[in-house]
Amino acid sequence: MRKLILTLTVVLTAIAVNAKTLIVYYSFTNNVHTVVTDLQSQTGADVVRIEPAEEGLDYAANNYALGSALISAIRNHPGEASSYPEIKPVDVNLDDYDMVIVAAPLWWSNMAAPLQTYLFHHGAQMSGKKIGLIVSSASSGISGVESDAHRLIPGGDFIAPSLWIRSSQTSGCHSLISNWLEQIGYKELTSGVESVVMSGLKVDMNVTSGGIHLNGNFDSFALYSLSGTKVLESSDNVVETSALASGVYVARINSGSCFVSKKVVITN
Ligand SMILES: Cc1cc2nc3c(=O)[nH]c(=O)nc-3n(C[C@H](O)[C@H](O)[C@H](O)COP(=O)(O)O)c2cc1C
Repeated sequence: MRKLILTLTVVLTAIAVNAKTLIVYYSFTNNVHTVVTDLQSQTGADVVRIEPAEEGLDYAANNYALGSALISAIRNHPGEASSYPEIKPVDVNLDDYDMVIVAAPLWWSNMAAPLQTYLFHHGAQMSGKKIGLIVSSASSGISGVESDAHRLIPGGDFIAPSLWIRSSQTSGCHSLISNWLEQIGYKELTSGVESVVMSGLKVDMNVTSGGIHLNGNFDSFALYSLSGTKVLESSDNVVETSALASGVYVARINSGSCFVSKKVVITN
């Protein structure tokens, strides 16, 4: 019976997760897609790409006529759902995330229309979450995209500064992104002391840059890749993780006959 209770404790506690980040983006000519691919590799964040419902449209044809018309419609009536172009359904539960990074192409000084559609419908659900903004444009800087983001995510806890990446900097975006993550204190924003409670024992786990700090009574600690490979094991209070690739791992804390598994994000 005691064993059953311990097992249940393990299952229930394992549901909790560390601070998690979602990257939401749209990309017409794949510059933002390239940026997001790099950002994902540096953060281990989950990613969702917004897609217009109607495929094959050329927003840049005839001197950007269609893109321009879509932006004008939103500018004229920003509070009406009918001003925003239809997008494909998006399967993501925003409740799972503490931080959202919005990555947007700039269209005529504004956020690209399909991404505005997603935020128009879901921005309110991001209330209280940390919001980061990355903008890609040819030459116009961030311009009105920041105020679009504030309008569409009214309760967002915005992180400053936003990051502008010129279209011509796309292929060399890696260092721009890593500098920005450093500047906004991304590691500190997404890590923090978490209490892991199991059968009366309490272990504080603090995932920081380069290491995991454990405080409390436990016998051993192990870290697994998502494919189930054990990548390190230790019984120390400070576990060095700087040799690991950035990404999502499963931490397992063992104490006596019970254990707790938790997802952790390692950012090196
Ligand atoms: C409809 C439309 C309007 C645009 N307007 C501007 C603009 O006003 N200023 C600018 O610097 N770039 C403008 N661009 C260029 C894009 O912001 C730039 O190419 C960006 O990198 C595209 O990102 P993507 O490849 O992820 O779609 C526009 C592009 C489109 C399609």
